[in-house]
Amino acid sequence: SRPKVFVARRIPDEGLNAIRAVCDVDVWPEQLPPPPAVLRRHVADCDGLVSLLTDRVDAELLDAAPKLKVVSNFAVGFNNVDVAACTARGVCVGNTPGALTDATADIAVTLLLAAARRVGESATDAKEGRWLTWEPLGWLGSDLAGRTLGIVGMGRIGFAAAKRLHGGWGMKVLYTARGPKEDADKELGATRVELDELLARSDFVSVHADLNPTTKGLFGAAQFAKMKRTAVFVNTSRGPLVDQAALAAALRDGTIFAAGLDVTDPEPLPTDHELFRLPNCLIVPHIASATIDTRNAMARLCANNLLAGVGGAALPNWVNPEVADKRRA
Ligand code: GLV
Ligand code: GLV
Repeated sequence: SRPKVFVARRIPDEGLNAIRAVCDVDVWPEQLPPPPAVLRRHVADCDGLVSLLTDRVDAELLDAAPKLKVVSNFAVGFNNVDVAACTARGVCVGNTPGALTDATADIAVTLLLAAARRVGESATDAKEGRWLTWEPLGWLGSDLAGRTLGIVGMGRIGFAAAKRLHGGWGMKVLYTARGPKEDADKELGATRVELDELLARSDFVSVHADLNPTTKGLFGAAQFAKMKRTAVFVNTSRGPLVDQAALAAALRDGTIFAAGLDVTDPEPLPTDHELFRLPNCLIVPHIASATIDTRNAMARLCANNLLAGVGGAALPNWVNPEVADKRRA
């Protein structure tokens, strides 16, 4: 019989149709995620699950789905998935790296430029009647050319952001990473440093590290204090890397100049949150991968992982390949 699959939200047809060709598919039709108990009920007799970053895949869910063979996450990040719990139960996990590298780097650069040049704040001022005349001292921001960029987490996305800013604006690139990155050193003349040195020397700090227990809360009061008072901070990774109360304080008291965020904690960020009231904080609603081509490409990768998972083949983008010799038949 055909494998059963639950897809936890509508994803682009390119992915959905590929899955439908092989599997019986149940697609969650609503805009908001299925609540955990509803998700558990829908996966109870499923062989495969397409999850989103808003769906928590934990031991409780897995224990409610004894036939589940694969969790195909429609995202490059997989902090919403308890991978160890999946591996322990013989469940394969897939993600969508590569597909969204360029789109995410574009949003990092967009936020960096917009925060540096006060685009959000000045556009609001213009619309709300505070554009009184051309002001020699109005809305002054910072230049990018020749400045120093600090990339925290030099993976695919960090590299793509650095490449744009080095190539386009001649920025000098510093980075942190678990190990040396030869491509970055060679192509971008980048230098790997400790985080504290990066924070002290960078004019722009852009976060691209994944969220895991070692990066949670990586940016707190001590880290903002080490940054330049002129620094611009950009996060397109995951909200919990940042202590938002500390960030708000740093933006309010001028410890740093501005911030641009694609991600927050929680998401959505409540509209009465202090960060929304700070004119030097620009927040967009986790849109880094939101282009038509990128979401289509993610859907294809996601479908390929799902189909490999239900078919017993190697996942093209396999988060836990160590599960191979004990995966569920
Ligand atoms: C988006 O945040 C992703 O991880 O793909
Ligand atoms: C990280 O998620 C990357 O794609 O570099």
